[in-house]
Formats: sequence, C-alpha cells, structure tokens
Amino acid sequence: MTAQRIALVTGANQGIGFALVAGLAARLNPDDLVLLTGRNPERVAQAVQRIDGVAKVEGRVLDVTDADAIAILAKDLQDAYGGVDLVVSNAIGPLTPDRPQAEQADEFIAVANGGTHAVLRSFAPVLRPGGRLIVVASSLGTLDHLDPKLHPFFDGVTLEQVERAIEDWRQAIHQGTAEEQGWPHWINVPSKVGQVAAVRAVAAERRSADLPQDTLIASVCPGLVDTRASRPWFDDFSQARTPEDAVQPILDLLLADHVDPTTYGELIRDGKVLPWHPAVPR
Ligand SMILES: NC(=O)c1ccc[n+]([C@@H]2O[C@H](COP(=O)([O-])OP(=O)(O)OC[C@H]3O[C@@H](n4cnc5c(N)ncnc54)[C@H](OP(=O)(O)O)[C@@H]3O)[C@@H](O)[C@H]2O)c1
Repeated sequence: MTAQRIALVTGANQGIGFALVAGLAARLNPDDLVLLTGRNPERVAQAVQRIDGVAKVEGRVLDVTDADAIAILAKDLQDAYGGVDLVVSNAIGPLTPDRPQAEQADEFIAVANGGTHAVLRSFAPVLRPGGRLIVVASSLGTLDHLDPKLHPFFDGVTLEQVERAIEDWRQAIHQGTAEEQGWPHWINVPSKVGQVAAVRAVAAERRSADLPQDTLIASVCPGLVDTRASRPWFDDFSQARTPEDAVQPILDLLLADHVDPTTYGELIRDGKVLPWHPAVPR
C-alpha cells in the first residue's frame, strides 16, 4: 500500500495536457488524485467528464497567467495533503501565423513563460520527497536555436535573470527591435529557450537537496504532436504523434521508481537528454 499521490497538470482540458491527465488517471491508483486544470470552467468540467481512469480526477480552474492563483493553489494543496507529488507545467496559449506575432506576444509569453515561472516558484517548494516537476517545453529550447550573443541571458543564470531576459525580449518585440537584437522571428523559439533555462536555473539551486530524495525537476520535449498549438504551423503531420502516444515517455519519467541523476534539470525527449549546448551545430 503506497501513500496517496497528488498530481496536477496545467492547460489540461485538451491536447498534451489532457492526454497526460488521462494517462496519469489510468496508471495511478484509485486513492490517488489527479487535478485537471485549465483556464475555462466549462472546458475544464467537460474534460473531466471525458476521463475514464482508475485514479480520482478533479477539475480546478487555474489561469496560469495569474501567479497569485498558482501560489494559492500550491498552498491549499500543501495544507490539505502535505504537498504534491507530480506537477506538469504544460499550458500554452494559441499562436497563429495569420496575425502579427507582436499582437499575440503578450498573452503567449504570459502563459508559456509567466506560467512556467509561477509554477516553478510556487510548486517546487511544495514537492514531496520523490516528487517530479516537469515543464513541457520543446527541442526548440536548446541554446543553439538562439544567436550566440543572446546566450549569456539564459546560460548559467538565476530564475530572476531568466524572467528579466524574457521581459526585455517582450519589450523589444513591441519596440520593433527584437530581430535586430538577434531574437528569432517565431516567438515560440525564445519562449521555449526561456522555459528550459528557467528549469535549469531552479534545478541548479535544488539539485543537491533533490537528488538524495529522488526528486526530479526537468523539462521535456513531446516531439511533433497533432494539437491546436501545432496545426497552424506545420503542413505535414504524417510523422506527428497523437497526444496519447506522445505522453507515454513523459508518463514513464513521471512514474519511474527512481530518478536518473543525468536527467536532473535537463531537457528530455523520449527518455534521452538533449544537450543544452549541442556539440555539433544542428
Ligand atoms: N503540439 C506539439 O507539436 C508540441 C511540440 C513541442 C512542444 N509542445 C508543447 O506542449 C505543450 C502543450 O501543447 P499542446 O500542443 O497540447 O497545446 P494545445 O492543444 O493548444 O493545449 C494548450 C492548453 O493550454 C491551455 N491554456 C491556454 N491558456 C491558458 C491559461 N492562461 N491558463 C491555463 N491554461 C491555458 C489551453 O486551454 P484552452 O482550451 O482554454 O485554450 C489548452 O488546454 C506546450 O508547452 C507546447 O509548446 C507541443
């Protein structure tokens, strides 16, 4: 008999987040609790209805652009259960090629980066020993996707420095200076580098305390998955995974008996670490 485990996934009413909740609900025990969170009450309630699993699944409204709401939920779970075991920061806002990216940047960055920062800040401290905190990022999040002159803003820095770099980039987008400063046009790319850098920053501080307790903080790449987020950006989905297939390696990582120390703080795809500084340019 194991103790009750508490899991939480952000942005979970569709896509990869929904598949993660469905997979956790199938693979956890009847006493365990999975919180399916999202920003819209109706969509959250409907998504909970579509889950047919073993563990208990409850919906919670959680807009990840609201850092206070994230902090309150983390505290509530700490008070109610003594902490959480499995946390996945997954939410992403819609981004479409049909509109200028500057028009979409504020919401996109607030969800993907603001949400990640807030989840790391509020949930890492309430992770129980043996817990996992995973940020769903992308293989686009390695340093080689950025102009080398931007690397110092993300490499070997603190979470506060990552936040400042993301804010400076957001302002440069609005001032029309982002591309001359070397920022990639597709805002998804710096956003993903920022997510991976934020995880690395928090992991660097916690590594020596987490590893002896078998606790993992890491980011993951799910590969190309056919979802609302990817559909507007790619024509060929013949090699894309379904959300259900894409989440299996992430579920394996979340539910592994032990943490492989070489994965701690890293970006992981299908169980393998993607180098932050790739040795061979891709
Ligand atoms: N799909 C791919 O090929 C791919 C590849 C690499 C990485 N990823 C990453 O995987 C993650 C999930 O992406 P996906 O493809 O599953 O996207 P998706 O299908 O568009 O789902 C995104 C989820 O985030 C939610 N969300 C949006 N704004 C939110 C907010 N303010 N607060 C809380 N939730 C919010 C959405 O809720 P609503 O329904 O209410 O909008 C939705 O449930 C993202 O980090 C993405 O970058 C995806």
